[in-house]
Amino acid sequence: MLTISDTVTEMVQWVFPEHAGAPGQIHGGRMMQWIATVGTMAAARVARGQVVLGAMDDIDFLHPVKVGEIAVLRAQVEAIGRSSIEVGVRVFAENVQSGRRALTLNSHLVFVKVDEDLKPVPVPATLVPRGPVEEALFAEARERRRQRLERLARRRAGALDTVDEAEEPRWTLESSRAVLPEDTLFGHTMFPGKLLMDIDEVGGILSMRYCRGLVMTACLDALDFFAPINTHCGTRVRPTWPSFTWGRTSGPEHARPSRPRRRARSGAGRRRRSGARADSSG
Ligand SMILES: CC(C)(COP(=O)(O)OP(=O)(O)OC[C@H]1O[C@@H](n2cnc3c(N)ncnc32)[C@H](O)[C@@H]1OP(=O)(O)O)[C@@H](O)C(=O)NCCC(=O)NCCS
Repeated sequence: MLTISDTVTEMVQWVFPEHAGAPGQIHGGRMMQWIATVGTMAAARVARGQVVLGAMDDIDFLHPVKVGEIAVLRAQVEAIGRSSIEVGVRVFAENVQSGRRALTLNSHLVFVKVDEDLKPVPVPATLVPRGPVEEALFAEARERRRQRLERLARRRAGALDTVDEAEEPRWTLESSRAVLPEDTLFGHTMFPGKLLMDIDEVGGILSMRYCRGLVMTACLDALDFFAPINTHCGTRVRPTWPSFTWGRTSGPEHARPSRPRRRARSGAGRRRRSGARADSSG
């Protein structure tokens, strides 16, 4: 039996210029990749085996992490189902001179323990929250699971009717690439952090074209991952304004993000919101 505090995993990263997107601060896609990495570490340690990312809830980037600061990513398992594991990730920006830490974002990811055929299998651990703080986190996780399962059922139903929603060809862009062995962590499936990085990059390019200036990722709508992407596949990331889509080129369409809730306006340094809904077909 585990308590939430037994499962804490911390990842600490200096932010170098190579990690920046808009000048002087971290690239949103890089941050999402780090979130997927620390979340996977926490989940795999508890699962004692291979996990895949099933869903990622909304993310709001509250505070930037600047170049020269330290990003502290803290992940902890807040609930365990039969085969699913919910991980909460909090990110802080630490200023080395002052020692102060500011909360950058809060996110929740759901991993599913799978076998070699990528079929869900039971997690060999139970979580028993200790004390009122952990009990509150556990109760919130149960409520999020309820809402997430409702969302999943809605999106799965909608996914069957998916069509290309490109409205304005001028605002489309497509990036295709092969999934290489270096993109995997477990087995032959693409590590989700790599896909998140690609999505943010292409969404960012399209937003910058639209704004004619720099943009920062402000928030990300919840994502559901319906089907794994294997190394024998290619990925196609295709955001279209005002909605983004992306999919596999040599396999079924993989994922389709939802319409952003807020449009960028022209001008430099705008914050952009991207969101996602996922679908797949055989
Ligand atoms: C996640 C996945 C393994 C689930 O497979 P499935 O056959 O639909 O699973 P089931 O319906 O039997 O559900 C198994 C568990 O996963 C949970 N689950 C399934 N899809 C989920 C999703 N999108 N989000 C959160 N939880 C999910 C279920 O609630 C269930 O939890 P429980 O066992 O704790 O009750 C499958 O959808 C998949 O492989 N997705 C792609 C994952 C991936 O490759 N991610 C990275 C992409 S780059």
